[in-house]
Amino acid sequence: MPLAEALRDCLGLTGAVETGTFRGASARALAQRFAHVHTIELSRHLYEVAKSEVPANVTAHHGSSADLMPSVIDKVSGPQLFWLDGHWSGGITAGVSSECPVLDEVRAIDESEWGAGSAVLVDDARLFLAPPPPPHKREQWPAFIELADKLRAVHPRYVTIVEDVIVAVPVLARALVEDYAMTVADVQQPGRRRFSDLVAKLRQ
Ligand SMILES: C[S@@+](CC[C@H](N)C(=O)[O-])C[C@H]1O[C@@H](n2cnc3c(N)ncnc32)[C@H](O)[C@@H]1O
Repeated sequence: MPLAEALRDCLGLTGAVETGTFRGASARALAQRFAHVHTIELSRHLYEVAKSEVPANVTAHHGSSADLMPSVIDKVSGPQLFWLDGHWSGGITAGVSSECPVLDEVRAIDESEWGAGSAVLVDDARLFLAPPPPPHKREQWPAFIELADKLRAVHPRYVTIVEDVIVAVPVLARALVEDYAMTVADVQQPGRRRFSDLVAKLRQ
């Protein structure tokens, strides 16, 4: 969530749109950082439970993100943080007949008024780097390169992966995302030298 806050401030994001509400954990976390959050869930049961538990600044929607995304985006009035996490995940989750709607979600974002200025974060990057294992149907999931191409087809976004999240942002936020990724790498690999430190040493 530190990256979400930094992107909010850098890009002037006015709210957040989530796909895949599940039990509402990320909707609640987003609601602490954004004035308003829309969240879309395909499972009627999960939608009903989450709807009664999320804070007042979260609007829960029931249906497939592939269908609802355009009408939900119509309700917002500024660039958004899109948290794309709506896919079949086994257990009580929905979507087994069409496991991964992410390409439709990105299309809806790109066709909207706010596509160019918004940040698009896709959770569970590992599921696009290698196909998800059975019983998932791998043919229903785009490969990472197909998703990255889609994320860059309409707007010139900077695309990378940080902490199992595909991050696609307007190019003006590139340095911010790079700084965050370097900080994460420093924490994960103490002693790792920053690229800028190496460049400075070579210039001495
Ligand atoms: C990985 S979970 C989401 C986790 C959630 N963001 C959280 O805070 O813990 C994926 C969710 O997406 C839902 N889902 C699957 N296909 C969907 C679709 N087409 N539209 C909306 N939600 C979908 C599933 O029912 C499941 O609840």
